[in-house]
Amino acid sequence: MQVVIQPDAEAIASLVADEIERLLRQRPETVLGLATGSSPLAIYDELVRRYEAGRISFARSRAFMLDEYVGLPADHPERYRNVIEREIAGRVDFAPGAVQGPDGNAEDIPAACEQYEAAIAEAGGVDLQILGIGSDGHIAFNEPGSSLASRTRIKTLTSQTRRDNARFFDGDVDAVPHHCLTQGLATIMSARHLVLVATGAGKAEAVHHLVEGPVSAMWPATVMQHHPRATVLLDAAAASRLQLGDYYREVFANKPAWQGL
Ligand code: GLP
Repeated sequence: MQVVIQPDAEAIASLVADEIERLLRQRPETVLGLATGSSPLAIYDELVRRYEAGRISFARSRAFMLDEYVGLPADHPERYRNVIEREIAGRVDFAPGAVQGPDGNAEDIPAACEQYEAAIAEAGGVDLQILGIGSDGHIAFNEPGSSLASRTRIKTLTSQTRRDNARFFDGDVDAVPHHCLTQGLATIMSARHLVLVATGAGKAEAVHHLVEGPVSAMWPATVMQHHPRATVLLDAAAASRLQLGDYYREVFANKPAWQGL
């Protein structure tokens, strides 16, 4: 696992956008994994800037979302499909239908989850998966206790996650759905490069477990320690509980340029 500590979210965004730009130039059909939440927003803004400057195009690429609430009306502004449209998909040149998410309003939920797995496989898998982390250590919506071998399925959100996400529902925790569909931990682990971003002291404990704790379903993000190519980008506050912070800084400062992110 590579740990990169940067001054702020903008510096993190620029490094991640560099890597995505490199991938899209190398192979315009690159498949991206998109996350919701506040953590990736600076990355999306930077990608939009580069698209508007004519540096990158998403016209031949595809994208898969990590998760979706169950039961939010199709036009609800916090339905993740609408969030992704607002934050990135609708601001660049993805082809119609090129961005997909699990269908939280499907009548047959298990079938919708299977179809989603099949769609990702049919696209050839995800090349670069952007991830945030919940304060309880979840990635996508894989809450503590999630099977490390899980695939896309329905999950019940913890009250901690519903409280954390109430800020997107005018502070009303009762408006946050109880259920979601989420890529499983094994689904996420199938992506070729995992790029997790976390900023702020509120993430420091989860980041400490993710990077330096034992692998455990109690801190689902720790499964990433088993991934051959996982990059964790942090600001100083999110990195504040890491034991080897100085070493990670030294490694990144001395990294051979040819390695990329
Ligand atoms: C949400 C999402 C996750 C996200 C996490 C952190 O519940 N399902 O994909 O990574 O919470 O969100 P934020 O980046 O806003 O802190």
